[in-house]
Amino acid sequence: MKKKIVIANWKLNGNKNFVKEFIHNINSENQKFFKNTKVIIAPPIIYIKYMSKKIHNKKISFASQNVDYNYQGAFTGEISPNMINEIGAKYIILGHSERRKNHFENNLLIAKKFFSVKKNKLIPILCIGETQEEKEKNLTKNIIQKQIDEIFLHCGNNAFHNTFIAYEPIWSIGTGENASPDDVNKIMKFIKNYIIKKSLYKKINLNLQYGGSVSPNNIKRIIEKKYIDGVLVGSGSLQYKNFLKIIQKCNV
Ligand code: PGA
Repeated sequence: MKKKIVIANWKLNGNKNFVKEFIHNINSENQKFFKNTKVIIAPPIIYIKYMSKKIHNKKISFASQNVDYNYQGAFTGEISPNMINEIGAKYIILGHSERRKNHFENNLLIAKKFFSVKKNKLIPILCIGETQEEKEKNLTKNIIQKQIDEIFLHCGNNAFHNTFIAYEPIWSIGTGENASPDDVNKIMKFIKNYIIKKSLYKKINLNLQYGGSVSPNNIKRIIEKKYIDGVLVGSGSLQYKNFLKIIQKCNV
């Protein structure tokens, strides 16, 4: 059975004590606990190196929440994919709706980052999804298609091989209102078929994550769906006990 993948997006949360406590809790857990689950943590980037050194559990990997597409040069404040690689992260979250909204990241910029990330042998976790208004206008598939097409255009027909897509309807992020697992399953199926149709390889390794108010209460109904490979968890990952319950319920 394919392992379920649980990604924790801490966003701009945590501090030294929080990180130390998290490391302590994870290290005290029996490693068998994680046997059927793959866990990826995306803390604020400055904690990754420390966490990757101190966490003994080899099943836990790390992701950055952002990256620049340039490799080096006069780009004040930016961090390149190769730097992220050096500090021990394998994955990079791209195009999160908070970055699209607050940092004006558009599909083209995200596609450039995606290209750069893959070129550096890191794995992109591309976030896509529609707003409430777009959902009400029945535009979900159009929006998703556009977000995906820009990646194909910029990165070629095999862009999505060995990558993750996180479908995160914007109206469900941080609201306590998760999308219906049946609806998500249908959208995931659409995403998978659409990407396979456009890809050169017909068997591509693509992981589909759902994100948006995932909690210990709804995870079971989400994770049992055929086209959902895992989840991307924001606030539900900030309390260790909750996060552990989410992992536990994926560990079937
Ligand atoms: P949430 O966030 O779980 O707090 O809704 C998910 C995300 O933003 O990735």
